[in-house]
Amino acid sequence: MIDLTTPFLIERDLFDGPVLVTGVGGCLGAWTLAILQASDVPVVAADLRDDRYRPSLIMGPDAAASLKWEISDVTDAKALRQLVDKHGIRAIIHYAGLQVPFCASNPALGARVNVEGTINILQTARDAGIKRTVFASSVAAHGLPPGGKYLATLYGAYKVANEQTAHVYWQDWQVPSVCIRPNVVYGVARDQGVSAKFTLAVQAVVQGQSYEIPYSGRLSWLHAGEAAAAFIAAASKEGEGAFVFDLNGGCETVENGIRMLKEYAPEADIAVSGKPFPFPPDMDDGPIRAHLDYPSIPLAEGISSTYDAFVELQEAGRLKPLE
Ligand SMILES: NC(=O)c1ccc[n+]([C@@H]2O[C@H](COP(=O)([O-])OP(=O)(O)OC[C@H]3O[C@@H](n4cnc5c(N)ncnc54)[C@H](O)[C@@H]3O)[C@@H](O)[C@H]2O)c1
Repeated sequence: MIDLTTPFLIERDLFDGPVLVTGVGGCLGAWTLAILQASDVPVVAADLRDDRYRPSLIMGPDAAASLKWEISDVTDAKALRQLVDKHGIRAIIHYAGLQVPFCASNPALGARVNVEGTINILQTARDAGIKRTVFASSVAAHGLPPGGKYLATLYGAYKVANEQTAHVYWQDWQVPSVCIRPNVVYGVARDQGVSAKFTLAVQAVVQGQSYEIPYSGRLSWLHAGEAAAAFIAAASKEGEGAFVFDLNGGCETVENGIRMLKEYAPEADIAVSGKPFPFPPDMDDGPIRAHLDYPSIPLAEGISSTYDAFVELQEAGRLKPLE
């Protein structure tokens, strides 16, 4: 099996104790777990349920089965604190959250999970004296305030609230944090959310199906391993402020991404329709790169390794059918 984590391995000594990763059933959490575990960094996985499908796609079923996994709801502040104490957690990477469509269909639950959940993480860090807290915002924060150039969503509003909350936690109580706004993530295990369509198209090709991507033109291309590596780099040192960084990766058209894929899979039958994605495709990675050191994956390499991994997973019978 292709080792997907090799480009992202880190020095074990960068961490002085276990790292808690929330939302590990999702794509970015799964990549983060896989990289930390392969680097021998002690890690505690937390999610609402024990579903290791996505981590196992990246790290393999045996490594995924060996993970220390806690069923935990980020809206439960008391349980979160108990979990941190139980494992002697020294750093937190917080991904747990609900995406755009879920926030739109249940705004109150979206706010509980995305906003209150992040407050619980910051408060736990404050109470437990944790100096390394990193959490996920999103490019959707650029849609606020409403009336600007990009789409305003409740999801984006909740992410902005988190960014501002983190500033106040630093200002009032010197709780340090790094907030990262990933743009469009692609790669193995990226199978849900409005921006997952290119990765789903690659999976469709491998599973012998045609696919239609409902947006066109310029897009951000952020390899999931590169994104996870940036979060890990942010957690690998004690914070001294409340930082907010955009994280874009590359910028390329959807159409050229498909052309690159066709070099490996000439049979790919992928149509493109609709307008460009309603968020900026080319945010500046300069500030985050000046603050953190993490590897970069060129787009052609990211697409070919994603395709190769899907082929292997499909041949091994480990890839679920497309929904
Ligand atoms: N993937 C992207 O392109 C992208 C882009 C920008 C920002 N982000 C942000 O990064 C984070 C991770 O993204 P992802 O794509 O891996 O997300 P995902 O939706 O695939 O996974 C989120 C995980 O959070 C868990 N979760 C939901 N409610 C919870 C709760 N109450 N308590 C504990 N866990 C809960 C879910 O079970 C799921 O496993 C999210 O906060 C997302 O908003 C992702």
